[in-house]
Amino acid sequence: MKHHSTKFDFLFSKTLASLNTTSRFPLTKHYIQHGSVTVYDHSIRVARTSYKLALLLHLPVDLHSLMRGGLLHDYFLYDWHEPDKSHRLHGFRHPKTALRNANEDFNLTAIEQNIILTHMFPLTLFSYPSCLEAWIVCIADKICATKETFHR
Ligand SMILES: [Fe+2]
Ligand SMILES: [Fe+2]
Repeated sequence: MKHHSTKFDFLFSKTLASLNTTSRFPLTKHYIQHGSVTVYDHSIRVARTSYKLALLLHLPVDLHSLMRGGLLHDYFLYDWHEPDKSHRLHGFRHPKTALRNANEDFNLTAIEQNIILTHMFPLTLFSYPSCLEAWIVCIADKICATKETFHR
């Protein structure tokens, strides 16, 4: 377990650093997700929780895609608390916006795309996870969102 965590921390720092230096990912520090948690911190929590779940349950996953998909699942790049016509129905629409933004900045794997697009299931009824990695992030997102909303 310890060995895995160390390996993960190294991979995670490397992946996060590359996102921070080669994309618009740092912008997510300016947007609040739940409570007082920024989208940046929320995304890191979701990616870490996803990995922990995969490890705990011994799930055979593409670790790199799980990590990047988790980090980019809320890459919508706006403040959804601000009243704006384009922010309406944020819950339903932001996965598509996040995927569009991420496709502009990265060459995403099919797994990463599926993670981003389906993470709001069951709210997005017809976009449901079609791989293990997407199911994990979908569940990790709900765990983190609940904690962030009620932990003050
Ligand atoms: Fe989301
Ligand atoms: Fe999220």
